[in-house]
Amino acid sequence: MFALYAAKIVRNVRRISSVLASAILWLACSPLFLSRAQETDSAKFHIHAQRLQGTMEKLSEFGRNPEGGVTRLGFSETDMAAREYVMGLMKQAGLQVRVDPAGNIFGSRAGSEKLPVLLFGSHIDSVLHGGNFDGDLGSLGAIEVIRALNDLNVKTRHPLEVVIWTNEEGNHFGLTTLGSAVAAGQLGPEILDHKDDQGLTLADWLRRYGQDPTHLTDARIRRGSISAIVELHIEQGPNLEENKIPIGIVQGIVGLKRWMCTVSGFANHAGTTPMNRRKDALIAASKDILAVREVVRAEDGRQVGTVGFVKVEPGAVNVIPGRVQFPIELRDLDIPKIDRMWQHIQERLKQTDTEENVETSCTLFDDAQPASADPIVKSAIAAAAKSLGLATMDLPSGATQDAQNISRIAPMGMIFVPSHDGISHSPKEFTSWQDCANGTEVLYRTILLLDH
Ligand code: HGY
Ligand code: MN
Ligand code: MN
Repeated sequence: MFALYAAKIVRNVRRISSVLASAILWLACSPLFLSRAQETDSAKFHIHAQRLQGTMEKLSEFGRNPEGGVTRLGFSETDMAAREYVMGLMKQAGLQVRVDPAGNIFGSRAGSEKLPVLLFGSHIDSVLHGGNFDGDLGSLGAIEVIRALNDLNVKTRHPLEVVIWTNEEGNHFGLTTLGSAVAAGQLGPEILDHKDDQGLTLADWLRRYGQDPTHLTDARIRRGSISAIVELHIEQGPNLEENKIPIGIVQGIVGLKRWMCTVSGFANHAGTTPMNRRKDALIAASKDILAVREVVRAEDGRQVGTVGFVKVEPGAVNVIPGRVQFPIELRDLDIPKIDRMWQHIQERLKQTDTEENVETSCTLFDDAQPASADPIVKSAIAAAAKSLGLATMDLPSGATQDAQNISRIAPMGMIFVPSHDGISHSPKEFTSWQDCANGTEVLYRTILLLDH
């Protein structure tokens, strides 16, 4: 608890005189705040674990796959049905619900004072054959926090807003955390004419959501209007479970860059073309893909590189592939390292072009900068977990997150809970209900601590 006040003082003392700083210190230790803090000191839960579980199990029905898991792609019918469900939950919790021109859903709860908003939430869209906890926990956990505040008739000073971001997985357009990137001003009208593989533009999809794409920039959130954003999320990695730690305090979120590469060879007869006279685009692409892994592995650190799919044309068993497309994605907390790896990969692509007598071109299509969590928000999360007697661990997020975009315009923090076997983006994605409840109660307490 003291760390929270101390962190607050440290941040403020840089900006204001010592007189004001001592005033804040006195205030922070006054009976008003301590009683509020003690309210969160009891080890009992304020949120209802079973109620939370019921809403998550209901959400898992939207886009459920026969083999388990879920396919609830952004801008799909199942996504739209799930959005109606969660908007219904928001209204039942007494929230004023609105949808911004990017399709982001906000549920507002008035505060007692005219202060910037405390924002918390996540996303409910999934990847193809994904899991039922990525995004869902942070979204439904946020709504559960509101229900618990209502049950206990707790009035906060700050207005609260629950948010469900649109198309976090970037379905159709490969733009990660799309809705929050628009809200944070990272993406704008330039993306409206991006086409998906059905030839539909983002504007077409937004209209399908009932939005007016010509007002996309109205979705931008004004800097200063948010006091802090806190996102509860599953770790999607093995660290918390392996170390038997129930709560992760995110220190930073990786940046990523994505390129679409096209290898142009020459389609020809598979039977009559001698092996030494081929321009086989798939052989070249195969060498390129292995080169990505070699270059990424050659660096020290937690960086990752992935080629998620390959499109081969014409795709016939008796035709030498003439054209191949594949994306290259590089992630790390350090953008210069990504740029250095990309340099090395380009050299390898050129070498393959010479060896295989093909031509390869790559276009950057996504670029998310890394983000650091705010010391005050991190202290609040740590104090909230401590008040529950839950151990914590500092760790980075290897996944990109909506909170990452909002960190450009407001202090950000993320609460992680364990992922079983570190599995995610898979039907095998699993987090225990106890861990879901722990994370949600830490979110509840963090919001109250930040409401000082
Ligand atoms: O790809 C990611 O890291 C996130 O799940 N959108
Ligand atoms: Mn995801
Ligand atoms: Mn996610």
